[in-house]
Amino acid sequence: MMKIFFFITLLSIVFAEADNAAQEDKRPFEIFTLNNNFYGNFIDHEDIVFVKYYAPWCGHCKALKPIYENLAKELHNKLKFAEVNCEESKEICEKEGIEGYPTLALFRKGRSKKVYGGERNLEAMKNFLENASLPPIIESTKEEIEELKKKENSFVIIKSEADDQIRNKLVELVDELDYLHFYALNTEMDNFELAVYNGDSKEMFTYEITTLDKFNGIEFIDWANTKTFPLFHQVNMPLFRRIENLPVYTLWYFYQGTIPKVHEDLFRGLAKKYNGKFIFFSFNKIISEDQVKHMHHTGNVYPVISIIHTNKRNMYVMDEDVTIDEETINNYIESILNGTAQLYYQSSDPIKPEDQKDVFKLTGHNFNEFVTTKGKDSLVIFCVERADMCKYFLTTPLAKVAKRMQGIDTFQMAWIDASTDDISPEWNLNIIPKVYLVSEKDGETKKVEMNEMPSEENTMKFIMENALFKFEMPAPLPEENKEDESPESDSDSEEAEKKEDVIEKPQEKKEL
Ligand SMILES: *[C@@H]1O[C@H](CO)[C@@H](O)[C@H](O)[C@H]1NC(C)=O
Ligand SMILES: *[C@@H]1O[C@H](CO)[C@@H](O)[C@H](O)[C@H]1NC(C)=O
Repeated sequence: MMKIFFFITLLSIVFAEADNAAQEDKRPFEIFTLNNNFYGNFIDHEDIVFVKYYAPWCGHCKALKPIYENLAKELHNKLKFAEVNCEESKEICEKEGIEGYPTLALFRKGRSKKVYGGERNLEAMKNFLENASLPPIIESTKEEIEELKKKENSFVIIKSEADDQIRNKLVELVDELDYLHFYALNTEMDNFELAVYNGDSKEMFTYEITTLDKFNGIEFIDWANTKTFPLFHQVNMPLFRRIENLPVYTLWYFYQGTIPKVHEDLFRGLAKKYNGKFIFFSFNKIISEDQVKHMHHTGNVYPVISIIHTNKRNMYVMDEDVTIDEETINNYIESILNGTAQLYYQSSDPIKPEDQKDVFKLTGHNFNEFVTTKGKDSLVIFCVERADMCKYFLTTPLAKVAKRMQGIDTFQMAWIDASTDDISPEWNLNIIPKVYLVSEKDGETKKVEMNEMPSEENTMKFIMENALFKFEMPAPLPEENKEDESPESDSDSEEAEKKEDVIEKPQEKKEL
């Protein structure tokens, strides 16, 4: 499931191993030791604090120690350095959600915690902290802005006279947009208040602010992010992190040796054309052939292309024998955008109706069609085939619901194995089974999540209450239908409650 994350694991390992051993230089007095009695106060009152959460036994923490000390030594006049021993101060680390050691996080006046995700060597961390300790918006002249452009940097410009409300909102966004600096330009800048400059394409984009109270930070971040994204860059962690939650397609161009100039030009051109919809990455096979295979290529032919929608996880794998030229790629992109391209599915073929059991089983091939059926309320159940608990739900309470609802032709129900590759994160599968009712009417999709473990009664009630197409509640099944069931399953809701504490999470984090 979610093979794209393989890439993250891989690069994290590469980064972890790249740690430089810095020389020992003990200046511990520059690093504040924070504990349960002395944490919140410190974090809230200092302008900028960089905190290291560690455990005494952890190897990477030991390797980081001298680097962290050097960092503190060099930068202690710009910000404060602190550390928390998570063995001694468990509450703090729990509260902060520390999941691995060491974790490094930056705080500004207690707010906007930012976990450091870069390489753990002196230079990278210093660079990060020097940037972080700059004033949020730097007043600048037209000449300075021209200099920045020459350095091929990307940045945000706000008119010095811009409304305070916008300025204040921008200041709050600084940590979210740490890959972009903010400059205020104090001139008779003509017709815009807010703009970004893409240092790679050397283009400037103006942000339309309709009304002040509608100025939405998150929208601006997403906009600025895609507008300033490098046109065709070797994929790396910081770049990937920028777009991993955006609703965009990422095209991965896998190559060996060097990238032909015509391809470089082709993808840079396409990146401008499809700005905001498609991101273009190159990926040298020597970084990881496994990644090439995880995106469903043989690893024998280069260059090859895979496309994945980062949000929906839809995957498209281009034939290895196709010629990469403008017309082919353009058509391929267009066919993805107009929904006619062939999706790549990991999961098995659809299951024949005659092989179906109590509740109809979907696979990636027919899932989308099922949940977008017009004129029907569709109940979809996410479960995991190999989990006994799922067998129980599907053969007992939900099978009864299926039987009871048989005569209602505005209703359909089915289930899908949540441990396969085909389910996008939008379904929020933190527990299984998870039940949704999805309805399509007049072009609108309504999706309701059931928040209880499904019993026959509460599922019937859930459908009744949320169905767009109303129906008469069908009577419970006559007694004789119950004969072949085990005696314990008589009371569904009681049984469901008992099962609740054995709920497993689908793989989600384990495979990271
Ligand atoms: C720091 O800022 C410079 C200049 O904008 C930029 O090139 C660099 O990537 C930034 N470094 C980090 C770690 O954010
Ligand atoms: C979708 O795009 C492809 C490629 O441009 C084109 O050949 C096809 O006719 C389009 N289909 C629809 C339904 O628009």
